Amino acid sequence: MEQMGNNTEIVDLKPKQSDFRTEVLQGLLRDPKETHPKFLYDERGSGLFDQITGLEEYYPTRAEIEILKIQGESIAEYLGENSLFVELGGGNGTKGSILLRSIRSPRGYLLVDISMDALKLAVRNISSEHPGLEVKGICADYTDYDVMANLGVSGKKSIVFLGSTIGNMEPEEARRFVANCRKVMAAGDTITIGVDLKKDIGKLEKAYNDSRGITAEFNENLIERINRIFGCSIGKSDFIHRAFYNQQEGRIEMHLESTRNQTLKLDGVSVKFRKGETIHTENSYKYSVEDFSSMLEEAGLREVVHWTDSGANFALFSAKA
Ligand code: AVJ
Repeated sequence: MEQMGNNTEIVDLKPKQSDFRTEVLQGLLRDPKETHPKFLYDERGSGLFDQITGLEEYYPTRAEIEILKIQGESIAEYLGENSLFVELGGGNGTKGSILLRSIRSPRGYLLVDISMDALKLAVRNISSEHPGLEVKGICADYTDYDVMANLGVSGKKSIVFLGSTIGNMEPEEARRFVANCRKVMAAGDTITIGVDLKKDIGKLEKAYNDSRGITAEFNENLIERINRIFGCSIGKSDFIHRAFYNQQEGRIEMHLESTRNQTLKLDGVSVKFRKGETIHTENSYKYSVEDFSSMLEEAGLREVVHWTDSGANFALFSAKA
């Protein structure tokens, strides 16, 4: 246990960190080739993602912050008083901090994040903006049901899962995740989830193909990581960023497309690419209000409500157990 200030505490449950080397190689040996989106977020990747959130074309972060600010009163009323907040994967803590501004008498703020660096930053940011509030960080994997079932909190709680991180999960995984949250909630507890909505394809695709090329850098950073970790030297122009909306699946897909026929040697294993073949690096699912509401209801949640930004680009859903 580590004490950062008077009202803060960090607990390290030592979550199993993913093994880039074996997992990425396994993914590249699959057909089609794919890597888990978590591998985009090393230190540089996280910095680039922060830059993405400030881009003109990337509306989700701005839209979610607008909801938290403008609908603060209404959200606070739904969540009620004297609740302990449990934020899952809150990034740098900016959004949790904004949400807290509207909340009357929260009992405390618990953050669960797999990244100790992100966790420390978020705990520091939230406690400096909300002096007197008990802020606790738990370094753990919140997709692990045992972690959620053993948070050791008593009394009314409000689970918060912002940033449309749920869009990175396959719909089946998202359902399981919501069901697991439901299982650890007592009657009257709430869950609040930020979700990017289905919309005009042009707007969606622009958000992942920004004019300054930051999203491309974010995606291509995976190649640099592969170079570093496997000690190879894939050229800057050997793979290019591709992002498009897959209407059938209701998701933005990010890929790295091979610009030529090439063979990579990774840990002695040959990985062949045809020109035009891709590594599928991320999915970002978009939901309709109807679909996401029914998913929450099917997980046994009730009183499903939602708030959207003025452009109806993004929604914050809340529901009760
Ligand atoms: C962090 C998963 C919400 O899907 O929009 C942004 C990640 N990828 N640009 C998203 C991302 C490319 C982002 N999430």
